[in-house]
Amino acid sequence: MRSNKQLTRSEIQQFFSTKTETYNSFISAFRYPQGIRALLQNSDLLRPGLRVLDAGCGSGVVTFAFTEAMASRGLKYESIHAFDLTPAMLSRFQTSLNTCGINDVQLRQADVLALDPLALAELRKRLSPNGSSLIVITKKSPEAKILIEWWWRSERYARDELYQAFAAGGFRDVTFRRFPDKYFWLNGGSYAIEARPDLSR
Ligand SMILES: C[S@@+](CC[C@H](N)C(=O)[O-])C[C@H]1O[C@@H](n2cnc3c(N)ncnc32)[C@H](O)[C@@H]1O
Repeated sequence: MRSNKQLTRSEIQQFFSTKTETYNSFISAFRYPQGIRALLQNSDLLRPGLRVLDAGCGSGVVTFAFTEAMASRGLKYESIHAFDLTPAMLSRFQTSLNTCGINDVQLRQADVLALDPLALAELRKRLSPNGSSLIVITKKSPEAKILIEWWWRSERYARDELYQAFAAGGFRDVTFRRFPDKYFWLNGGSYAIEARPDLSR
């Protein structure tokens, strides 16, 4: 995973601090939270006792989708840790957790790229041997260029580039999942990628 080339860490923080609410309105308009929840509800990644790390958690969309998907299947997780570079996003996340009465999610401010420039390799080392990663990342598509790269200053990635990055990061079984048909438009702008640690590395 590359960082946004144009922005320094403090520029990223400033960008997302001033746009925290706009970001949430944007993802709500595209029904991204519901799409992620539907993706997880259909996923065979869910099982009891999961320990989850939400890296670059923002305001917590993926964590909330995860807790809701687990609850809908009657499953309990063991732990959730989440981190983000931007304190304002974490603060909004914490407020939402408080509102929902969820008190078992541990939030921290951290920089995923402090792990290493590739991030994936260090995230893989933190996975349990039978664990999985699910990464939602911007797709190199025309619609993502306008809606995500220009607006949200986010980089876009091609499928081949991602296969190579996951292999270099020590992952195997890299699988591109589709958002369910009800949220088909999300497939135009994002890839949802599952991968498992390559234990031979
Ligand atoms: C587009 S938001 C995505 C948030 C959330 N994962 C979601 O799906 O809605 C991008 C988030 O990544 C965070 N971020 C950007 N660079 C980061 C880094 N190097 N380390 C940790 N978080 C980072 C930003 O602060 C922002 O909250």
